[in-house]
Amino acid sequence: MSDTPILQVEHLSKYFPVQRGLFRKTVAHVKAVDDVTFTVHKGECLGLVGESGCGKTTLARCLLRLVEPDKGRIVLHGEQQALDIVSASRKEMLDVRRQMQIIFQDPFSSLDPRWRVTDVVAEPLIAQRIGRAEAARRVLELLPTVGLGAHFADRFPHELSGGERQRVSIARALIVSPPLVVADEPVSALDVSVRSQIINLLLDLQSQMNLTYIFIAHDLSIVKHISHRIAVMYLGQLVELGTTRQVFEQYRHPYTKALLASALIPDPTRRDEGYVLEGEVPSPINPPSGCHFSTRCPFAQERCSAEEPALRDMGDGHWVRCHFAEELDLSEEIFAPVAALG
Ligand SMILES: Nc1ncnc2c1ncn2[C@@H]1O[C@H](COP(=O)(O)OP(=O)(O)O)[C@@H](O)[C@H]1O
Ligand code: SF4
Ligand SMILES: [Mg+2]
Repeated sequence: MSDTPILQVEHLSKYFPVQRGLFRKTVAHVKAVDDVTFTVHKGECLGLVGESGCGKTTLARCLLRLVEPDKGRIVLHGEQQALDIVSASRKEMLDVRRQMQIIFQDPFSSLDPRWRVTDVVAEPLIAQRIGRAEAARRVLELLPTVGLGAHFADRFPHELSGGERQRVSIARALIVSPPLVVADEPVSALDVSVRSQIINLLLDLQSQMNLTYIFIAHDLSIVKHISHRIAVMYLGQLVELGTTRQVFEQYRHPYTKALLASALIPDPTRRDEGYVLEGEVPSPINPPSGCHFSTRCPFAQERCSAEEPALRDMGDGHWVRCHFAEELDLSEEIFAPVAALG
């Protein structure tokens, strides 16, 4: 891993309009991604975690302009030049897609059922104007790398297991040899029994092909072993960013503590031994004023709902979005035991 940036995301925002009535009047906005800033370094795996609905997928899709961002910059430090993806032309986007690819969460809906594996995997090459015969040759060469025999090339997605489908999605992402891969919860739709195989495959491929990953998950336990650094997201914003050690052992944001506490519950039927957050996740349509976490934070004070905290550098590349990050004592069991909540 190096300190050389491959991707710089600056003040990125995406608000979806909420429309009502006959004339589809915009009555509010879902702040799915709200002023997100971070850098990805060459060769690292950056984990991105947060509860369902906090904006992870929207952020991932913005990075590839599968969703158009409203504000901010996404600078890709490419092989030849640096390029702002947000303002890139159609031709420049073709180059971006050769350098950055995405693996989607659900291999059941992300693969077209009418296409054979060979066509699915070859598609990004065809988009790069590579001829069909050459594309088919490269697909056959790549399949064993993702653990699939050559005989899979002629199969249809419905003839494959979940794990095999996700291997196809991985091959499809890697066929253009992109240095940067965004993996959006790549194992959460799979059976528990095959999850570690796919994670291990992604790890092997990273070292073999010198890949940089942005790896999205909804809980911290899954990213712990694979990430060099971790970004924690809450209601569209990053609330903590640091090395895996800083986030797991020297966390400074109460929400990170809460996520860690809930990750300690190994078996959902025995929740009484764990600790959870009180209250529902507020709606991203009208996030709480000031600190977005103020309605659930046990440390909230008057200033928290009045003034929005900035993501601040605490030193050594450890960033935290909390007014009181320096002084909070997070060693206490601050979150109510589930049993006490009834
Ligand atoms: N196309 C869309 N139109 C309107 N709202 C959307 C759209 N996509 C996502 N959202 C909303 O944006 C928020 C973030 O969603 P998402 O990025 O899917 O979160 P996550 O991946 O963390 O579960 C949610 O409130 C979701 O309902
Ligand atoms: S700013 Fe206030 S409400 Fe937000 S996390 Fe810090 S203490 Fe809690
Ligand atoms: Mg998602």
